[in-house]
Amino acid sequence: MKILHIDCSVRNEESDSRQLSGYFLGQLRDKNSDILVDYLDLAVTAPRHPSPLFIEGIYCPPDQRTPEMLEELAESDTLVDRMLDAELYVIGMPMYNFTVPSNFKAFIDNIVRAGRTYRGTSTGIEGVLTDKRAVIINTRGVDFSQEKMASMDQLQPYLKTIFGFIGLTDIHFINVYPVKFSSEELRNKAILNAQKEIAAMVESL
Ligand SMILES: Cc1cc2nc3c(=O)[nH]c(=O)nc-3n(C[C@H](O)[C@H](O)[C@H](O)COP(=O)(O)O)c2cc1C
Repeated sequence: MKILHIDCSVRNEESDSRQLSGYFLGQLRDKNSDILVDYLDLAVTAPRHPSPLFIEGIYCPPDQRTPEMLEELAESDTLVDRMLDAELYVIGMPMYNFTVPSNFKAFIDNIVRAGRTYRGTSTGIEGVLTDKRAVIINTRGVDFSQEKMASMDQLQPYLKTIFGFIGLTDIHFINVYPVKFSSEELRNKAILNAQKEIAAMVESL
């Protein structure tokens, strides 16, 4: 199985989302030696934000792109290739200000590409990544179990929408909270529950 493992926390050893995505991969390696892992650390290599030339390039027919456009699109093309090459995405994802970290948003702006990850058809837009699956391990500082907080979540609805747009609808969210602004006891419980959920998920793969 080909896996694209993505982390995006700006923290390193102390990062909960990195530890849990690593735990997922560790469990998977223990169970199945037949896995190939491509690792992408968006905090180390944050994709560039779209530029005017990038935008000109993505909407220009591929055979008419200038060398400058091709150069500007090269990083995006490589990221799309890595997405297309994998069968399963395992993503460690902290919540920042109720949504995804900005490096992950830049990643999205690079991989949502007409003619590559979605295409126009006579019946409308069609996503390409229909045969892929994703596991998103989303750590949050606050307790989101109450409706008042749950309604402020702009991360899960956003990811469902944008990944759905490019055909990726088989997404399993493992939401881990509260890991920060609460008691040590609740934090430990949240991490333990996430590890159990990950183990069960890996078992089912
Ligand atoms: C810039 C920033 C913004 C954050 N915003 C939120 C938030 O909106 N909601 C929340 O529950 N936690 C928020 N947190 C807490 C993180 O989501 C939480 O600590 C998470 O586990 C961090 O992931 P990491 O340990 O992998 O770095 C924020 C943390 C940072 C650094």
